[in-house]
This record gives sequence, structure tokens and C-alpha cells, in this order.
Amino acid sequence: MTVPMMIDTDPGVDDAVALMLAAASPEVQLLAVTTVFGNAAVEVTTANALRLRTLAGLGNLPVAAGAARPLVYPSPQRTDRWHGRDGLCGQAELLPEPSGPVNALGAVPLMATLLRGAVAPVTLVAIGPLTNIALLLAVHPEVKPRIGRIVIMGGNLGGSPAEFNIGSDPEAARRVLVEEDVATTLVPLNVTQRATIDSAWLVEVAAAGARCAALAGIIEHCRQQRSTPMALHDSLAVLEATVPGTLTTSPMALQVVCEHGCDRGAVQSGNGPERPVQVACDADLTSLNAMILHRLRALR
Ligand code: BDR
Ligand code: CA
Repeated sequence: MTVPMMIDTDPGVDDAVALMLAAASPEVQLLAVTTVFGNAAVEVTTANALRLRTLAGLGNLPVAAGAARPLVYPSPQRTDRWHGRDGLCGQAELLPEPSGPVNALGAVPLMATLLRGAVAPVTLVAIGPLTNIALLLAVHPEVKPRIGRIVIMGGNLGGSPAEFNIGSDPEAARRVLVEEDVATTLVPLNVTQRATIDSAWLVEVAAAGARCAALAGIIEHCRQQRSTPMALHDSLAVLEATVPGTLTTSPMALQVVCEHGCDRGAVQSGNGPERPVQVACDADLTSLNAMILHRLRALR
């Protein structure tokens, strides 16, 4: 099965793995990568997307820059907290220099243009704040029938404080998760933080050729800076988008807290009339890392 796909991202170390995973997956027909502020400023995440386009051998795949800030309020998040000022834990120089053009249309018009021309439903994978996706659906509602599914990494049901992607732009998240009607799968922290990697896995990635070795170098540096195990959050969304059903999901009507206070950005399940979102609640965790490694090896 071929899966036409666009990835909206804020690379980001785990975004970098997710992009490489998409590039390495034979089912994926990658149409574009669009960028958003998040793990770093949008200028930085765009430069990192260009680096990754080269590293993954994606040729002239369109890369377009999107939102530099949230829809309504300034971002409350410290962007350098997890991924450093360069978004790649200070190791951006392990990747090729940013090169090649950035698409002149910009993220949202590019997504709309590609969707209008799509001959088959396109899967949108959103692995950063949802600002670009909210704008796409608000400004270009006519493209909604061309979207097969939106797969989102975000949220932490029942948890506090808010997960990073949703907390970075709660109004955008409410627009996409609550107010829209496009088929959507949410891959929350509840599942992704259980899928951690260990040094044995990383050794295998490093041995899988020069492209993967560069990726492994960044991940290893990032792991050393943390006191908690590292999870490949965004890769789980790409994997589910690529092989539907990889994650076990359950339909839920959702709410996103937009009031100011300690719950701002929280995603909650409710009993409201909103269309249900498929929320990932479980997975065969032992097989996920093996699936990702198996696919990355194709990048040799
Ligand atoms: C999410 O936040 C970001 O820091 C990661 O790239 C991922 O998309 C996890 O909460
Ligand atoms: Ca991300």
C-alpha cells in the first residue's frame, strides 16, 4: 500500500528520527515537509529540515516554512529546554549544511496546493505544535476531503502539565482536535513515553551506515544530557501513519483546556458531542523499536 504523506514538524531530535523513518519506509510517498516553531524557532527548524532532507537523500522534496508563533498568545514554552538552541542538542553540525531552496509558497499554501492536486487521500502527520494544521483547515476548508487522516503526536491524557506540542498552541490544538471533522488519530505521551530506547538499540542504528551513524550521534549526545530515558515520540506517529493499526486506538471525544491556569494545554477525554478522535492507548512496545531500526537500515 502506498501512503501519500506530508509531515509538519519542528526538528527536533525525535522529529529527525521520524523524518528519517518516513524517508526509509517504502510505503510512504512523501509529498512535502513543512515546518513550524516548537523545539526551536521556525528559522532553525526549517534549517534542520533542510539538513535532514539531504541526510535522508530526499533530493528536491519541497520543504516550506510555516508559523513562527502560536495563533493567539505568545508561546509559553522554553524552546531550548529539551533539544538545545539548535534543536539538535548542539549537534547540528553532525548533519549536512542546510542547502537547496525553501519552497516559496510557505507551509500552509503549499499543503493546500498539494492537497488540491492529490489523486488519492493524503495523510498529514503533525509532530510539532498544531498551528499550521489549524491554519490550513481554517483558510482552505475545501481541501478537507483530500485529507485521508491527520495523525498527531501530542497530548498527555490525565496528565499535567500539558504535553509540549499541545501546550505550545492550545487554541490551534482545540481547533484541530475538537472543532474539526477530519478523521484524526492522536498519539499521546501516555503511549510514546513508554517506547524508550537503550544503548544497544543505538549501537545498532550507528552501525547501519553513514546516514544512520550521524543520526545516532545526535541521539546519543541528547541521551547523555538527560536524566530520564529517551523516547522516540514522533516516530510512533509516523509509524502509525505508515502502517495503520500499528498502535491500538480507542475513539474519544476530546477537550483541550484553553483557559489560563495550570491546566492550560491539557487534553481531556469528555462526553461531549464532538466527533471522536482515535486515541492511541497501547502498542506492542517491544516490536516498535525493532520496526524502526529495520526501516532505518534501508537508508544505508
Ligand atoms: C513532543 O515534544 C517535542 O519536544 C517532541 O519533538 C515531540 O514532538 C513530545 O512531547
Ligand atoms: Ca516534534
